[in-house]
Amino acid sequence: MLVVEGPNGNGIGKSLALKKGFELVASRSKVYPDGESEVGIEGLVMGRDVTIVQSGFPNPDKSLFEALLLSAHARREGAKSVALAMPYLIYARQDKELKEKKVVVSLNVEFNLMRSVGIDALFTVAPHNPKSLSNFRGLTGFSYATETLANEVRKDLSNPYVLAPDKGALVLAMPFAKALGCGFTNINKQRDRLTGEISISEAPDVNFSGHDVIIPDDIISTGGTTALSGKFAFEHGARKVVAAAVHALMVGNAREKIKEAGISKVYGTNTVKSDGVQVADVTDEIARGLVAMMPERFRVLRN
Ligand code: R5P
Repeated sequence: MLVVEGPNGNGIGKSLALKKGFELVASRSKVYPDGESEVGIEGLVMGRDVTIVQSGFPNPDKSLFEALLLSAHARREGAKSVALAMPYLIYARQDKELKEKKVVVSLNVEFNLMRSVGIDALFTVAPHNPKSLSNFRGLTGFSYATETLANEVRKDLSNPYVLAPDKGALVLAMPFAKALGCGFTNINKQRDRLTGEISISEAPDVNFSGHDVIIPDDIISTGGTTALSGKFAFEHGARKVVAAAVHALMVGNAREKIKEAGISKVYGTNTVKSDGVQVADVTDEIARGLVAMMPERFRVLRN
């Protein structure tokens, strides 16, 4: 297996090589004055199984197109197979037909584009709705990164309690609570699909007195969900509140919103580049996931 570090690989390809012994090939990229991208693979891929590592954030559309170009290049140069490891899968939140919006399902368009350039396997971390991966007509795999995040968070908390911001985040909250040996609960938030405004639609009867509360989520985008959950935790007696998101995008004034809600720290992972976040490295989980997804393509792997 050859791993190609894409221009937005976030160093994960290099880390897979350094920590796990995967064979690494670099890519080159250039942006023309009109904003068009040119990318290419700097090595021989003929007859080889290739995994391209390219995150989807920042610059989602550019990152996706670069991943498509790299994959097409690998195929044209004779790669035997092409897998894409996209640690943050963009368009994953646009996976449903919404009548009021009258738009196409962006995630499915993205999947079709990936297939059309020869990507036959797709690996990601904490996809928004794992079930939607079944619409990719090839191999798929994912990891939640909860183990890595929980290990990072546990150092700073005492008497923790996990508060999921909605039912969907329970898939993260439950393993988090298990790893930290503590209880968990959830509120339910609703988002107005047109205005984007969020509010709490269901809340448990809880008392967080004496607890450090942790809010896990797959994504922090504008920070609204995290801030709302943080306020709820403090109103219900929390001593301290921190947030842990696999993909801490921290868009716009997310940081300020979260700080204003009293949340003292945000933990994230290197699936995306983000400032002001304590970052945990998901290389190990990605390595394990890639090997589990396509064991026949890996021959040498350092433990
Ligand atoms: C939504 O269902 C996701 O799991 C996140 O809660 C959401 O994307 C966070 O967005 P924001 O930070 O803009 O509230």
